Amino acid sequence: MNRPDVVDSIAALRARVRDWRRDGLRVAMVPTMGALHDGHLSLIRIAREKAERCVVSIFVNPAQFAPSEDLDKYPRQLARDLDMLAMVKADLAFTPAVDAMYPAGFATRISVGGPSAGLESNFRPTFFEGVATVVAKLFLQATPDYAVFGEKDYQQLCVVRQLCRDLDLPVEIIGAPTIRDTHGLAMSSRNAYLGEDELQIARELNVILRKAAAALATGAGQEDAIAEAIRALIATGFRKVDYVEARESLTLAPWRHDRAGRVLAAAWLGKTRLIDNVAVPAARV
Ligand code: PAF
Repeated sequence: MNRPDVVDSIAALRARVRDWRRDGLRVAMVPTMGALHDGHLSLIRIAREKAERCVVSIFVNPAQFAPSEDLDKYPRQLARDLDMLAMVKADLAFTPAVDAMYPAGFATRISVGGPSAGLESNFRPTFFEGVATVVAKLFLQATPDYAVFGEKDYQQLCVVRQLCRDLDLPVEIIGAPTIRDTHGLAMSSRNAYLGEDELQIARELNVILRKAAAALATGAGQEDAIAEAIRALIATGFRKVDYVEARESLTLAPWRHDRAGRVLAAAWLGKTRLIDNVAVPAARV
């Protein structure tokens, strides 16, 4: 299996995309921070079905990490990532250096309203500015027709959709279902931080959220269902729960029983913060 070509300059990325376009080929992009896992591979497979060419960016974006967060510790494993990209036949890996994306004097931040309110923003106030800024840059650099984002980061997916709508970025955003291990644990690069005991506990996160979603779908009061989920997470061994909330799936406005919903959560296991979300079963809403 051949590794994809790798470019690390914006000029080389643009030249490659220009060549593809000259040949009438459509381009799909999968933005990543590397440390690829099966979840990313599923996004790349979807990208390859949508377009003739697929570019995967691998860039650990400092702008979305707060000073107290795990930027330095975030796993970087380019050689392994390129082997994984070979497995799914990605065409191009874009691996810019930090100073290529944020040269000296860089001074712009994109702030998206709407779905960025609350949830993650209550705990990571600058996170979505960092994500929106880098995603807008990547889209302007690669000019993809499509971009694929995982539902695992559900609020991020909604924020990126809002960004593209508001700035008229001509990219179709495709949301891809969360890939889970056989116990239901959502694939995440940060799972690599978990020890064996923590993994067992982490696997309860989706079970507890599913229970909450099922309770909501069958008419349980929101406060009770959420309080029960938080209680169950702590009883299972999570150290701290940042939030468990029910939101409308499209707008992320507070959920009402007659709307399609999503239960979203973030909780800490030791020093690792996990997020997950599940749909409130639509047929029963
Ligand atoms: O989801 C991620 O890995 C990142 O937030 C993204 C979208 C690649 C932006 O850095």
